[in-house]
Amino acid sequence: MSTGGRLVRALTACGHALWRPWLKRRLGRVSLEHVDGVPLVVLPEVFNPAVFRSGAFLARAVSGLEAPAGGGRRRVLDLGTGSGVGAVFAARRGWRVVAVDVNPQAVRCARLNALLNDLEERIEARHGDLFTPVMDERFDLVLFNPPYFRGRPRNPLDAAWRSPDVLERFAAGLPAALRPGGRALVVLSTDGDGDSLLDALARRGLTIEPACRRRFGNEVLTAWSVAAATAAAAAGGDQRTRARRAGRRRLWRARTSS
Ligand SMILES: C[S@@+](CC[C@H](N)C(=O)[O-])C[C@H]1O[C@@H](n2cnc3c(N)ncnc32)[C@H](O)[C@@H]1O
Repeated sequence: MSTGGRLVRALTACGHALWRPWLKRRLGRVSLEHVDGVPLVVLPEVFNPAVFRSGAFLARAVSGLEAPAGGGRRRVLDLGTGSGVGAVFAARRGWRVVAVDVNPQAVRCARLNALLNDLEERIEARHGDLFTPVMDERFDLVLFNPPYFRGRPRNPLDAAWRSPDVLERFAAGLPAALRPGGRALVVLSTDGDGDSLLDALARRGLTIEPACRRRFGNEVLTAWSVAAATAAAAAGGDQRTRARRAGRRRLWRARTSS
């Protein structure tokens, strides 16, 4: 390794050594954060959207969406809601939101943030695994900023980063959770295993387009817009194969242009 490389490595290790105790203290207590001026209480053991950039990135992607036509009848599912940041930003735009998390502390936190932002009429938080708490319900928009890494979570907070199979299970459950014309907004990072989710979605004939993207030095975050297959593609056979190939071509172009 070059001298420059060794220096960068030593500085990074030094930065991590200083950052870790600060992070442990910050995540171990109740904190009041702001994302683009919106206040959010973050409880211990809940993913902090002001400390970890993908949470604020999700909020900004939601802010960039068109306001829902049909007003409050439009329904959003915020999967893996954490602090409820996605739910709060969607409800502020006029949507009705169901916020779901497997971590009970996150569900409490999302309820607190609905109250704090006067949005309790528009946000309902439920505890459970992925689509289980909304079985047989359909949504116009599904938000998901998933765990990016493979493995068994070591504690409730760790479930924000690690899961053995959540990406494939999300791809399998998504089509049935979307209303006709509905779509999902999924935040993925160049860190972790996001490609396997994109592949699993494309295999199901879903169309995938980048909605917004931002480079943060060593990491690129993308919010992917995922829509249900058209009736023609869903009819199967050659049409489905063509839709899948077109999806892959778009993905390849999007990845190489980042
Ligand atoms: C990366 S965090 C994102 C939190 C929040 N949406 C944000 O952007 O700040 C992922 C969240 O998904 C939740 N989660 C992980 N596996 C889940 C599952 N199987 N069902 C529901 N939620 C899950 C975690 O508890 C965590 O709150």
